Amino acid sequence: RKKVTLGTLRSLYKKREPITMITAHDFPSAHVADHAGMDMILVGDSLAMVALGMEDTSEVVLEEMLLHCRSVARATKAAFTIGDLPMGTYEIAPEQALATAIRFIKEGRVQGIKLEGGKEMAPTIRRITKAGIPVIGHVGLTPQRQNALGGFRVQGKTTDGALRVLEDALAVQEAGCFGVVLEAVPAEVATLVTEKLSIPTIGIGAGAGCSGQVLVQVDMLGNFPPGRFLPKFVKKYGDVWGESLRAIEAYRDEVKGRQYPAPEHTYPMSKEAFEAFAK
Ligand code: KIV
Ligand code: NA
Repeated sequence: RKKVTLGTLRSLYKKREPITMITAHDFPSAHVADHAGMDMILVGDSLAMVALGMEDTSEVVLEEMLLHCRSVARATKAAFTIGDLPMGTYEIAPEQALATAIRFIKEGRVQGIKLEGGKEMAPTIRRITKAGIPVIGHVGLTPQRQNALGGFRVQGKTTDGALRVLEDALAVQEAGCFGVVLEAVPAEVATLVTEKLSIPTIGIGAGAGCSGQVLVQVDMLGNFPPGRFLPKFVKKYGDVWGESLRAIEAYRDEVKGRQYPAPEHTYPMSKEAFEAFAK
């Protein structure tokens, strides 16, 4: 498979072929996503919850994100890789954001970065893209701002709210983003925003009218114990947690029952050598 570049993404967008994106947080999850032909792999700050067991994304720090980006980058041969700027590493000033973005490229080994926010982030996006670092925006529901939003709430449900989503998307496009993630907005709004933009929209909980889709890999794989809350937009394509549980339980039972290891799992030795050793 040929390396996906911004040019590839641009031509998919022009052909109106849906762009596929998925998160990965380490070497194996990136490996499988790359093999499956994903156009883009996002090292999302959702790894705070799905890989590090944190309560929300506000806890993950830059060094942790960079460590996970590096492991993803090592496994990714074709997909275009994006690192998610964690809360606290880009909001203070455009210079801070640029310094962080540079660390993602140099140390995280990703090809572009994502940051949350609309109009108010335009000068920051401009600063980073002017330095030659591709930026994908993220508007609508921005989880890093959950405390200000009053939780994980759908955005753009009112006329004013929908206008805000559109203005934010236009602002990040104008500032130089090569694409924009639309999270948790009504499908009609996302479709109209997609029509008004000249860069691809990547939807998550934003319906089929977007230029592409993104899901959190652990969620779509079903790699979590039963009973966990899943947002409405997640489709569970697998039962990786159930499969892992079955495998580890079978291993436990076979060790307890002395069925594992069997002779074929052991290393041979000549009888003579063993007898000489045993006496
Ligand atoms: O952190 C993440 O996984 C994300 C995607 C859901 C867009 O930001
Ligand atoms: Na994120």
